[in-house]
Amino acid sequence: MASSSVKTIGLFDSGLGGLTVLRELQHALPEQRFAYLGDNARFPYGTKSPETIVRYSRECAEFLMQRDVGVIVVACNTASAAALAVLESELPVPVIGTVEPAARAALAATRSGKVGVLGTNATVASAVYENALKKLNPSVKVVSQACPLFVPLVEAGMFDGEIVDKVIELYLAPLKAEGVDTVILGCTHYPLLLSPIKRYLGDAVQVVECSKAMLEDVIKALAQANGRPSSDVPSTSYFVTDAVGQFNQLAALFLGHGGVHASKVELAISSPSGKPHLRAASS
Ligand code: DGL
Repeated sequence: MASSSVKTIGLFDSGLGGLTVLRELQHALPEQRFAYLGDNARFPYGTKSPETIVRYSRECAEFLMQRDVGVIVVACNTASAAALAVLESELPVPVIGTVEPAARAALAATRSGKVGVLGTNATVASAVYENALKKLNPSVKVVSQACPLFVPLVEAGMFDGEIVDKVIELYLAPLKAEGVDTVILGCTHYPLLLSPIKRYLGDAVQVVECSKAMLEDVIKALAQANGRPSSDVPSTSYFVTDAVGQFNQLAALFLGHGGVHASKVELAISSPSGKPHLRAASS
């Protein structure tokens, strides 16, 4: 029987990208129980307005709160950029986003003080990375680049090859010209393009993945939530809002392992200005 101190880590993303974060967490915490929600019916978030992304994020968080989660991981940069502060202020559990951990990791890595940020249109437009980096180090130079073609490439299973190289060059040439020595992959889909991105940037440039940068914060938050790994039910539950078969198939590529059997769920939809009722999960 699950003890009340066994807490599930809940993660959400607009679809598949957050699985790169889940992969790291499953690896670091093999006995931990996870609940993953991919809101693929409303994918992508990266082209939506901040108001819409906040509303979707609240609905995802509300769904996870009903599953005895002790920590919520916003495994989507776009949702972290738009909704982290709102979720932190409304939820009764710790909420970990992608931005601050990745900004800290980038500042620890850079020698030149020039950091590149790649993200969706919404993430780059929010300037959330620039603000986080400059808050920690006002003298850092930040070069941000929206990469709207990266997500469709990844979703199409194109992780390498001539077309991918051309798109990478299109987006990363300005960062190279600016002489950045550290680049943040500010979107949870982008780690699938890690090899060609690294090849283009060369060994002298450090690449920061949010999933790795977030680990420590998630583990700390779990301890704060008085959670402990559970050896009785060390499983992951997968939930999606659409296209189960397609998700299960592509999830194997993101996770590096198969065996994903997602359940299709309906989220409690709030009015555009309202918020769903967020309550502490029962234990
Ligand atoms: N996974 C999202 C992110 O990290 C990108 C996909 C989307 O646009 O929804 O920003």
